[in-house]
Amino acid sequence: SQRVKIRQVLQDERTNYEVTVKGWVRTFRNNQFIALNDGSTNNNLQVVVQEAEMDPATFKRITRGAAISVTGEIIPSLGKGQRVELKTASLEILGDCDAEAYPIQPQKQSLEFMREIAHLRFRTNTFGAVFRTRHSLAFAVHQFFHQKGFVYLHTPIITASDAEGAGEMFRVTTLDMKNPPRNEAGEIDYKEDFFGKSTNLTVSGQLEGELGAMAFGDIYTFGPTFRAENSNTARHLAEFWMIEPEMAFYELKDNMDLAEEFIKYVIKFALDNNREDLEFLAQRLADEEKQKPQAERSDMGLIEKLEFVLNNEFERITYTEAIEILRNSKPNKNKKFTYPVDAWGTDLQSEHERYLVEKHFKKPVILTDYPAAIKSFYMKQNEDGKTVRAMDILFPGIGEIVGGSQREESYDKLVARMNELGIPVEELYWYLDTRRFGTAPHSGFGLGFERLVLFVTGMTNIRDVIPFPRTPKSAEF
Ligand code: 4AD
Ligand code: MG
Repeated sequence: SQRVKIRQVLQDERTNYEVTVKGWVRTFRNNQFIALNDGSTNNNLQVVVQEAEMDPATFKRITRGAAISVTGEIIPSLGKGQRVELKTASLEILGDCDAEAYPIQPQKQSLEFMREIAHLRFRTNTFGAVFRTRHSLAFAVHQFFHQKGFVYLHTPIITASDAEGAGEMFRVTTLDMKNPPRNEAGEIDYKEDFFGKSTNLTVSGQLEGELGAMAFGDIYTFGPTFRAENSNTARHLAEFWMIEPEMAFYELKDNMDLAEEFIKYVIKFALDNNREDLEFLAQRLADEEKQKPQAERSDMGLIEKLEFVLNNEFERITYTEAIEILRNSKPNKNKKFTYPVDAWGTDLQSEHERYLVEKHFKKPVILTDYPAAIKSFYMKQNEDGKTVRAMDILFPGIGEIVGGSQREESYDKLVARMNELGIPVEELYWYLDTRRFGTAPHSGFGLGFERLVLFVTGMTNIRDVIPFPRTPKSAEF
């Protein structure tokens, strides 16, 4: 009979038909009940075997973690907890597993431990739910933009430019490092790098995205980005995925509207398509919350939190208004922030962002019109001569999830700003050409995909929502 996925078997209304299923043994109870999982859902299929009817050598090899193929009849289950079960007619061991040595245990294991066995953690319910949800969100990203007529533009991974001007780049080298060319001082001479250019892994596809927007109108990128910032936090990765739409003829307000619609769309998609996984993750989160002192517990469950975001408009305020709110706030018992907000112009710390989102507005907030000095060179300058048309979207429990802006479309203003900041104008001639040849108002933003997955899954550490985390401390495989 044909092999089917367990998800399909469990969704099928029928009983008394024959199937073949293949998967891994999660548990083997009473020498009779196998909980079989094939990764298509967290719900295991109960496979019933009769020892007396089986080849003893095969029977002995049914262990936790083993890969098996089973053919038999799907019948109504008399046991509690499942509607149907599989009555085994034939069972084949595809791959043995020494259950003693197998690091995945049936009882709950900590996420920290799972990070140490990240190569095997996909085989657990938590990571199964997280990565199926991640997949759906990625699919929804493409569906959203495709439906709106955006072109998916593949921007380079290896690049000579630093789009954010923050200098946090991984260098790419083509030099023979066993015998590298050296200058007179004996230092490695990187001038010979990559066909005579010094190159890096991209920190953002935005600048190339702008080239596309000035031809196609609307484009988006969705690819890996790299930041050599040494931040060992639960929100930062050295390699993360970013979605960067860029739209011609959009002003800041249009940009905000699109970002809000986009985020709501993908969250709704996950709620509609990954209900089981999200309900599992909601329960996981609720159990975790119970460990916390009452005062620190969230008053909303995961599903409620996602629905709340869908059903409420994001708050939109300027940086200047945010500073006013923060100056007049008493964030805690000590009535003080660790980093005081006295001067206009200071960058917001995560405690300030959290206060605005979690305590003051209690919903996602879009902050706009930041001081030029703390934002990137390409942002459109406001009339006031101090601020730029930036927008950051802040999310409860996450902080910054989106960074974006309207772009400076005036060639002269952009060049003047680049000169002020010491950004080499000649090297970015290709970028400046968009402003020389038919420049137009345009805007875009970048959404950190893992931060979105964190929010939707209710996980708390960014290492737990990317299959192979790359942080300053981990890059084994
Ligand atoms: O705010 P950022 O640096 O903005 C840009 O790169 C712009 N070029 C985007 C644009 O306008 N097209 O990064 C955008 C988002 C952040 O809001 C955050 O969600 C995520 O990328 N991000 C990170 N995610 C994980 N680990 C890191 N180290 C991240 N750095 C930024
Ligand atoms: Mg940012």
